[in-house]
Amino acid sequence: MTKNLFDPIQVGDYRLNNRIFMAPMTRARAGASGVPNEMMATYYAQRASAGLIISEATAVSPRGDGWPGAPGIYTDAQQAGWASVADAVHDRGGRIFLQIWHMGRAVLSESIGGQRALAPSEIAAEGELPNSEGIPTAFDTPEAMSVDQIDEAVAEFASAARRAIDAGLDGVELHAANNFLIDAFLRDGTNKRDDDYGGSLKNRSRFLLEVVDAVVAEIGAGKIGVRFSPTNAVFGISDSNPEAIFSFAARQLSKRELAYLHVLEPALDSGSPMVAGLPSVAPALRDVYDGFMILNGSLTQKTGADVVETGRADAVAFGVPFIANPDLAERFANGIALSEPKPETFYSGGADGYIDYPNGGRLTPAGQ
Ligand SMILES: Cc1cc2nc3c(=O)[nH]c(=O)nc-3n(C[C@H](O)[C@H](O)[C@H](O)COP(=O)(O)O)c2cc1C
Repeated sequence: MTKNLFDPIQVGDYRLNNRIFMAPMTRARAGASGVPNEMMATYYAQRASAGLIISEATAVSPRGDGWPGAPGIYTDAQQAGWASVADAVHDRGGRIFLQIWHMGRAVLSESIGGQRALAPSEIAAEGELPNSEGIPTAFDTPEAMSVDQIDEAVAEFASAARRAIDAGLDGVELHAANNFLIDAFLRDGTNKRDDDYGGSLKNRSRFLLEVVDAVVAEIGAGKIGVRFSPTNAVFGISDSNPEAIFSFAARQLSKRELAYLHVLEPALDSGSPMVAGLPSVAPALRDVYDGFMILNGSLTQKTGADVVETGRADAVAFGVPFIANPDLAERFANGIALSEPKPETFYSGGADGYIDYPNGGRLTPAGQ
C-alpha cells in the first residue's frame, strides 16, 4: 500500500491526522519573562491542522536560557502560559509537543547575570546572538561542566518535561541539535572531555541518554521525541565522523522506544547557512533506528511526499513554509499556492509576520 502525506499515523501515544508536521521555530514573542501569551496561543492554534506541531525551543532553566524573547518552562507563570497554548491547539483538534532546550555555550554571559555559559568543554560558540538590547554580541568562552552540573542539567530537563505534561502539552522534543547543550556533548568538535562524558561514542552519548532516561521516567517514552542535526555547522559546531556518533546514539535511542527521532538535514543546495557540505547521514540513521523517523530540511510538498512514499522517513516536518502558511496541510491537499514568508519578521516580536498570514485553505476552521 502506498503511503502518503495525508495518511493518519500512530506516533508514540498518539494517532495523528497526517504526516505534515510543523518544525520547531523560535519566534521570540514571549518577552523578557519567557511567558507564552495570547498571541502565541493564536499562532499555534492557527497551525493546528499540522499532523503534529513541534513548538519553538523552550528553556529548561535560567542558565540555559539566552535567546531574547524565547519562552521558558521553568516558572509557574511560564507553565500556565503553555497550558493556554495547549488548550488553544486542542480546541482546534491539533497536537503539540514542546521542544525543550538548554542552550549551553550559546548563551551570552550578560543574559545570565554575568555567569559563564555551560558546555562540555571550554570552547566558545562562533558567531553572535542579540543581547537584551538587540545588539549582536559575540559569545564568551563557556565553563566546562562539573559532573554535579551535568546531573543538575539532567534534572532540569526532567522537571521541564513534567511541567510540560502537567500543562497539557502532548509531549516533549529534546533539542539535541544545532549546537545546543546536548549536541555539544555529542560532537567531538565541542566535546574534548577526558572523563565519562567525553572521548568514546558511548561517553559522548552519555549526557543525551541520561536526559532521555530521566525524561522517560518522568513522562513515559511515548511522549518523547529527540531532534538531531548531524551534518550542520551552526555556531561553528563540527564532528570528525557524524555518521559514527549519530548512528551510535540512534541505536541506543531505539532501545528506549520513544515516540520519534527527528532528523534535520538541510539540502546541500539549499543555500542554508546551516549546511556544512557533508554527506547526508539520514539514510544511515533510518537503517539503524528502529522506530518512527521524521525528516526535515528544505522540503517541498513534492520532495516531502517522495520521502514518505519511498519510506525514507515516516513523516516530514516543514519549517519556514508553516510560518507563512498556517493552513499548509490544507494548501497541500487542495493544490493552493503558498504564501511567501517575510524573513525580517521571523524574530521581530509583535503580530506582524506572526499571526497575520492568510488562511487560504479554509477546509477546517484553522483559526483566522
Ligand atoms: C525562524 C526560525 C527559527 C528556528 N528555530 C528553531 C528552534 O527553535 N529549534 C530547532 O530545532 N530548529 C529551529 N529552526 C530550524 C527549523 O526547525 C528547520 O529545521 C529549518 O527551518 C529547515 O526546515 P525548512 O527548510 O522546512 O524551513 C528554526 C528555523 C527558523 C527559520
